[in-house]
Amino acid sequence: MIIGLCVRDSKLKNADIDSNYIDIYILPKASHMTNRRHILMTGAASIIVIGAGVFGARRLTSDLSVARKPWTVAGNDFEDPRMNALAYAILAPNPHNRQPWIADLRSDNALTVYCDLDRLLPETDPPNRQIVIGLGAFLEVLRQAAASQGYDIEVEQFPEGEPYPVLDERPVAHVTFNSNANTQSDPLFEHVLSRRTVRENFDQTLEVDAATLNQLGAVLHAAHGNFNWANDKESVETLKDICNRGWLVEVGVERTHQESTRLMRVGEKEINANPDGISLAGPVMEVGKLVGILEPEKLNDLNSRAYQETINFYSALIDSAMAFGWLTTDGNTRIDQLNVGAGWVRTHLAATKLGLAMHPLSQVLQEFPEMAGLYKEIHDFAGASNNQTVQGLFRYGYAKFPAPAPRWPLETRIADA
Ligand SMILES: Cc1cc2nc3c(=O)[nH]c(=O)nc-3n(C[C@H](O)[C@H](O)[C@H](O)COP(=O)(O)O)c2cc1C
Repeated sequence: MIIGLCVRDSKLKNADIDSNYIDIYILPKASHMTNRRHILMTGAASIIVIGAGVFGARRLTSDLSVARKPWTVAGNDFEDPRMNALAYAILAPNPHNRQPWIADLRSDNALTVYCDLDRLLPETDPPNRQIVIGLGAFLEVLRQAAASQGYDIEVEQFPEGEPYPVLDERPVAHVTFNSNANTQSDPLFEHVLSRRTVRENFDQTLEVDAATLNQLGAVLHAAHGNFNWANDKESVETLKDICNRGWLVEVGVERTHQESTRLMRVGEKEINANPDGISLAGPVMEVGKLVGILEPEKLNDLNSRAYQETINFYSALIDSAMAFGWLTTDGNTRIDQLNVGAGWVRTHLAATKLGLAMHPLSQVLQEFPEMAGLYKEIHDFAGASNNQTVQGLFRYGYAKFPAPAPRWPLETRIADA
């Protein structure tokens, strides 16, 4: 049997491939291929040949319309301004797409945000710092969406105290909605539905200029932290090297690597049923799933082809960076983390407006012991001293934006729904 690729677009992408790029047909066996029993996956997965098998003729694509539905529901009228705003807030960026937010609507004109403690990343984010940043991004999109409907929100951050060293049951924020005819819509809000984390190789012929990068920092308010950037060759090469080494540490430490593989959702069925975590969709992934090379035990096997392909895929992304940016704060309290989360999504929305692709590279900011050397290295590079903390590190460039990432439906994120 051969699996034939019918390429309809110029590029075949490794992950999250939309069904309109290519079709894969599994054909009944072809005589010259009958005895081949291997899979060839090039870096771009442009050829896949599978040996003798028992599959019938069929077509493989990933239809993620169920997992992506929340992106089409935002903007509907839920007859409750809080729900209308939440429908956008759940589209905020968040680490490993864990979507850790829960909204409790049981008080009038207000809501309380909790963190779902089952959605933490204890190995790669032991102090839950990145999770809190995601919650800060959620609150900022909530604010923008509320303003677009004529509501100011008043946010009390960690109203029952800031949890250390890890998050606990206490609320993350209490949010009151006040109708205000004079509320101005935030100009960044119109980019919420087109914002994407772009895990693509960036165009090597398109530089990211200083004027563009300066516009990202210009959308921050004082509490959001400081945005710095580099687009000169020497700094970009240094940062690529630091990020690549961080990536190798994360995948090389068994417990941090396995935390990620546990969160991998491979193929349409798995992603639509669990629209969170790391989604691997598209024909190549459907085939990988079908033939069993993308099972967690294979991905955890350091000698497997799938493990090596994963390393190469992400390293190639890092190596295609055309510029870097980083967000720092002077302190590192829970409130600093919430505030920088707002800054994070604001810079991302500003990039979206400019057609600039943004991809966070958080490995070297992770706070597990094996990463400590690189954590220090990136802080030294950024000139961060005392309590100053690099909260986010991003690569920038130009590439086609992918389809939206999966989300759980809004009703599943409401307390006691
Ligand atoms: C604090 C934080 C850290 C993140 N770190 C990474 C990262 O290291 N690598 C990556 O590919 N994406 C990273 N992301 C992006 C998320 O994976 C992404 O927001 C999520 O999958 C949802 O996709 P979307 O942003 O396209 O909606 C991070 C996001 C946040 C908020």
